[in-house]
Amino acid sequence: MPPDSSSPTVTSICCIGAGYVGGPTMAVIADRCPDVQVTVVDINQARIDAWNAADLSQLPVYEPGLDAVVARARGRNLHFSTAVEEHIAAADMVFISVNTPTKTKGIGAGQASDLRWVEACARTVAKAATGHTIVVEKSTLPVRTAEAVQAILAAANPNGGSRRFSVLSNPEFLAEGSAITDLEAPDRVLIGGNDPSAIEALAALYASWVPQERILRTNLWSSELSKLTANAFLAQRISSINSIAALCEATEANVQEVARAIGTDSRIGPKFLKAGPGFGGSCFQKDILNLVYLCRHYGLEEVAAYWEQVVSLNQWQQQRIAHVLITKLFGTVSGKHIGVLGFAFKADTNDTRESPAIRICKELLEEGAILQIVDPKVSEQQLAQDLGQASGAGEGRWHQVPDVEQAATGADALLLLTEWQHFAQINWPAVAALMRQPAWLFDARAKADANAARAAGLNVWTVGEGQL
Ligand code: UDX
Ligand code: ADP
Repeated sequence: MPPDSSSPTVTSICCIGAGYVGGPTMAVIADRCPDVQVTVVDINQARIDAWNAADLSQLPVYEPGLDAVVARARGRNLHFSTAVEEHIAAADMVFISVNTPTKTKGIGAGQASDLRWVEACARTVAKAATGHTIVVEKSTLPVRTAEAVQAILAAANPNGGSRRFSVLSNPEFLAEGSAITDLEAPDRVLIGGNDPSAIEALAALYASWVPQERILRTNLWSSELSKLTANAFLAQRISSINSIAALCEATEANVQEVARAIGTDSRIGPKFLKAGPGFGGSCFQKDILNLVYLCRHYGLEEVAAYWEQVVSLNQWQQQRIAHVLITKLFGTVSGKHIGVLGFAFKADTNDTRESPAIRICKELLEEGAILQIVDPKVSEQQLAQDLGQASGAGEGRWHQVPDVEQAATGADALLLLTEWQHFAQINWPAVAALMRQPAWLFDARAKADANAARAAGLNVWTVGEGQL
């Protein structure tokens, strides 16, 4: 649909929140819409300074290709600032892209989203905006959050004064590690709202680089709910294939063969069918728990229980892998050295949020294991924070090591948890020679060369591979 000629033309955007979503998203919008001034504002001065750093390797978010996009647009029509109100006042369109973590206390603790930062933003916009302002929810939000945002904005303008607000939902679907390609060539852009001209104003921005047929318009609530649903469906596929992996191990089936066989059915498709140690990352668990909370809120207990099971299965898979390892090592890992290959929640990131490695390693530490952890991107400080204990402390203890060889030294087992590419190219004869025999490789990602490891004398367990 061509942009509605009555739609306002956006020339100035302000994005509140210079985080993982706001920064890269606005960088790509500025890059693709050179006639629009884009300012990303944040209350965190250090973060803004980092976005303004002359050295592009210091940007607060690492994503392949982001530095080049920022280099092209920054200073031209992409700006980073802490002057929040000033830039809201100057903007035709304000994106809200702030954090919405799971609540840690009070009603809905552990499941519902904490919306205090979104509400604070709505209040700031209500105070500072001028003229007609289109307010776009970019953060992942529970369905009907826009109602609260609308109510706060309406209260700011009691007598139908000169100011006017339109609220849109425009969730972001980017994945870590591929954020720039996801933004530059999205499968779809979703815009939800009740004001057709505001929808078309936002659609016109995206139309600078996204084909029209990929720009979907829905009502506000469908858009909000679609983001949670997309993540729930993706996570569900992982729990589904992991459940089948366990069954494959109990029979003589091979989950990779099963995944290939079912993935060629065009109705199922081949993606997101890789068995592993369970899903991690900042979104999947959080969004499903949020969905579960919403279902309960609306009295849909069976629906809540259905989705809750996706998270339970994920946690079970992590526990199961720890237990397989302990069982194979004669029922005890106390005092045994175990090399842990990878700690990030997936390859090509230093992000460890909800990483399956956290639960699995904690379980092994609890059993008294001595972990030798290698990950090319995760810092020792991060490991200490995630594992809740300092390096070298305790009976069950951990150390960070720089390479696979040192992870293997004196170890009874290697446990591969993140699919870093170089773990596919391990020199198994050399590594096996460093281990205490009988030694094991536990490959929770089916990444390593199992034949080479076996040929080097190791016992090998691979997720989802039945061996009776
Ligand atoms: C996800 C969604 O993909 C993205 O659309 C949304 O905006 C944010 O959440 P992200 O968390 O960056 O993105 O990572 P993703 O690549 O989706 O992987 C999530 C987890 O699932 C990782 O732990 C990954 O290892 C795991 N995974 C993924 C599998 O175990 N098997 C698969 O087949 C795919
Ligand atoms: P996401 O992954 O959703 O982008 P992040 O935590 O990476 O989330 O970033 C959110 C950013 O929003 C943080 O830098 C935080 O300082 C900023 N922020 C939160 N509340 C406000 C606010 N009221 N005004 C301006 N910035 C805010």
